[in-house]
Order: sequence, then C-alpha cells, then structure tokens
Amino acid sequence: MSERFAGKVALVTGATGVVGGAVARAYAGEGAAVLVTGRDGGRLSELVKDIEAAGGRASAFAADVSRPAEAAAMVAAAVSHHGGLDVACNAAGIFGALAPLADYDDDVFDEVLAVNLKGVFLSMKHEVAHMRSHGGGTIVNVASNLGAHWRLQGASAYVASKAAVSHLTRTAARDHIADGVRINAVSPGPIDSPMSTRPGETVAQRDERMRDALPIGRVATPDEIAAAVLWLSSPESSYVVGQDHVVDGGATA
Ligand SMILES: NC(=O)c1ccc[n+]([C@@H]2O[C@H](COP(=O)([O-])OP(=O)(O)OC[C@H]3O[C@@H](n4cnc5c(N)ncnc54)[C@H](OP(=O)(O)O)[C@@H]3O)[C@@H](O)[C@H]2O)c1
Repeated sequence: MSERFAGKVALVTGATGVVGGAVARAYAGEGAAVLVTGRDGGRLSELVKDIEAAGGRASAFAADVSRPAEAAAMVAAAVSHHGGLDVACNAAGIFGALAPLADYDDDVFDEVLAVNLKGVFLSMKHEVAHMRSHGGGTIVNVASNLGAHWRLQGASAYVASKAAVSHLTRTAARDHIADGVRINAVSPGPIDSPMSTRPGETVAQRDERMRDALPIGRVATPDEIAAAVLWLSSPESSYVVGQDHVVDGGATA
C-alpha cells in the first residue's frame, strides 16, 4: 500500500455515506489523519472505529454542511483534532425527488440546493480559508455525471445542483490556485449504493437497467470513485486544476 497522504490531514464530508466512507477509509489507508463528518453521530463513531481497527487515524465531528456556522466549525475541528488541514473531499449530497418539473416540490428543491450546492460552497469557503494561509492544499468536490454531462428526467434539483457544483469548482479553482489551493471535481456515474436504485426497484433490477445504459455494463464500486478522488487529491495530479473528472463507465463517452 502506498502512503501518498502520510503526514497529511484530510477532511471528508458525507463520510457516513457510501462514497464519503470509501474516500475516508482510502485516505486513512494511505497515511492521512482524517476528520470524518456527516450528521449521524452513531455512524460517524462506527466509521472512526473501523478506520482505527485497520490501523488508521480518524476522528468525528457532526455537522450540517448547509449551515454556515457548522461548516466553519467542521473545518476548525479538523485543525484542532489533527493540527491542520491539507486535503478535503466534499461528498455530502442528497438526491431529492423524481418528479416532472411542474410537479416538483418547492421545499425539496430548496433542500437539495442547500445541501448539494450551498453545502459545497460553505465547505470550500472554510477549507480554502485555512489552506491558503497554511501552505496550500487540495480539494475534490463530488458532483455527478447527471450535472453537466448526462441526462435524467425528473431530477430538476439534483441535476441543477450538480451542474452548479461542476461550474463552482472551476471558478473556485481559478480563484485560489495562486494561493496554492488546487480544486477539482469528480463526477461519478451510477455507483453501487441506495442512491442509484429507484424507489421500489431491487438491486438486481437496477443492475439490469444499468447493463443497457452503461457501456461498461455495470455500476461503479465506491472504491473506484474513491480512487479517482485520491488521485485528484494527490501530487500525482499536480497540473490538474479546475476540472470536472467524469468517472462513469463510458456513459457520457
Ligand atoms: N450513489 C450514486 O450513484 C452517486 C452517483 C453520482 C454522484 N453521487 C454523489 O456522491 C455523493 C455521495 O453519494 P452517496 O451515494 O455516498 O450518498 P449517501 O450514501 O446517501 O451519503 C450521503 C452523505 O451526505 C450526507 N449529508 C446529507 N445531507 C447532509 C447535510 N445537510 N449536512 C451534512 N451531511 C449531509 C449524509 O450524512 P448523514 O446521513 O450523516 O447526514 C451522508 O454521509 C453525493 O454528493 C452524490 O450526489 C452519487
């Protein structure tokens, strides 16, 4: 196992979820001390125990990324628990509803934008504020190929929020690369997770649907998405700035 993140401190939002959990374990497995965040304190504690049992270092901080004070406190927790912040992955996100635009619920629209877009904005804002005055860092936002790249009927809020994350990533990267903060996004296609399964659909039915829709013939594993996040977080991608890196089995090829 390589140690690309030895001596580094990483922060992962959405760490109680499928993708964020895989990313947190991967950072810890490669030597980082990891601050894991989400709202579910019980799942955060379990994740910390798992990482420690595997020989890694981690601590937990419960925060709602859509709330400015909590996003600021989460970054402060990384610094106070582990002595700094070098690497961040903003993976917190929700899907919202599937309904035609004219029937889409206003409150659900607001909630999806609050978590997926404002949450990424607030997370980056506080991550960058620390990194730019402490020698720089890297940030990877988890968008979706359903944002700027693919299509899905009925997902107005999700699609709009993820397209916005893709473009926010570009702007933020241009704003802060001269400060030594390198920002990119990963846009996954469907992943083996509850989010890729439609209401009432079994995993087998989802896999059947994806076999036709995806050139690679299957959904991604969470570890395949984590691998892309780690590459974009590491010095191996040092000249990659402000890109939305699609990892979707050829869906948008
Ligand atoms: N799964 C897919 O097929 C897929 C495909 C493309 C992109 N993505 C994106 O990948 C990311 C992770 O997806 P996933 O499949 O891992 O989803 P997941 O398992 O449902 O996890 C979502 C995570 O977001 C956190 N979260 C939700 N609302 C939050 C809030 N207000 N404040 C803080 N944290 C909040 C949840 O934490 P708590 O439950 O602890 O609050 C959880 O950790 C999302 O941004 C998603 O849009 C997923």
